[in-house]
Amino acid sequence: MNFDALRQQVKQQTDEGLLALIDSLPSHAPSLKQAMQHALLVGGKRMRPLLTHLIGNALDIPRQDQLVISMAIECIHAYSLVHDDLPAMDDDALRRGQPTCHIKFDEATAILAGDALQTLAFSILAEHPVSAQAEGQRAKLVAILARASGYEGMCGGQAIDLSATGQSIDINTLRRLHQLKTGALLSACAEMITLVADIKDSDRQHFITFSRIIGLAFQVQDDILDVEGDAQLLGKPQGSDEALGKNTFPALIGMDQAKQELARLHEEALQALASLPYNTEYLSAFTDLMVNRRH
Ligand code: IPE
Ligand code: IPE
Ligand code: MG
Ligand code: MG
Ligand code: MG
Repeated sequence: MNFDALRQQVKQQTDEGLLALIDSLPSHAPSLKQAMQHALLVGGKRMRPLLTHLIGNALDIPRQDQLVISMAIECIHAYSLVHDDLPAMDDDALRRGQPTCHIKFDEATAILAGDALQTLAFSILAEHPVSAQAEGQRAKLVAILARASGYEGMCGGQAIDLSATGQSIDINTLRRLHQLKTGALLSACAEMITLVADIKDSDRQHFITFSRIIGLAFQVQDDILDVEGDAQLLGKPQGSDEALGKNTFPALIGMDQAKQELARLHEEALQALASLPYNTEYLSAFTDLMVNRRH
């Protein structure tokens, strides 16, 4: 199967898995359930599932384990986007070409949808059927995702993002901010899927290092696209960062330098892959996609 077909397949399988999961929830709180479904299933490139599957395939991890980790990470990611768009945070009205959760429903429902998606992620890791090898790693999988989502990961990054808004920070603080708010969830994909594999610790570290680099690169490209992307393609407002006074790579070091930083990260990511004794052809294609994407 070629890379594009595999990408399509991962998206379809992830979407089907998430839809079945939402459908299986009882219906005592219908608007909350609809808001969760809106946040999870209306669009989404499924980049984190793709990364999980590509590493999983390189390591012969059972498909079911790849899917369970992908669904859990997408629940956290969707929750992070719902809260990121709230009036108290970025106050955005458009996401994935649709009204944001708090616009389509209301603010309280959006807050609860984020909360419920977050806990759903951990229910998936704790309870969804997995292989015998993953079965024994459930507690560690939960610990990795919890750390990457919370104070030491995404939430910590979002807090730095908010407190630095309208103020100038240095480039290393910006790198750290991006690594936490966006990189942590991408590297959690590598940490979780490699945990299920029988793999040398040094090789596992290379996969994690690779994912950290592309996690940072992904947010640098997100910053660039906020300036020069096509809002129609992006499905979210363009120019939002500048309007809010956000710290971004183009704002801090200029567009040319931001693109140079991205090119440097691209190169570094490919180098991290080169040291792995596995077939990483599709992970190279993934790296190119992450830095060249237009949406
Ligand atoms: C957007 O993530 C937010 C960032 C962390 C940069 P994605 O660009 O992966 O969003 P979807 O899931 O495809 O909508
Ligand atoms: C998103 O950063 C990081 C998250 C943890 C959700 P942004 O605020 O730049 O993401 P977009 O541009 O709204 O998708
Ligand atoms: Mg934000
Ligand atoms: Mg935002
Ligand atoms: Mg952005």
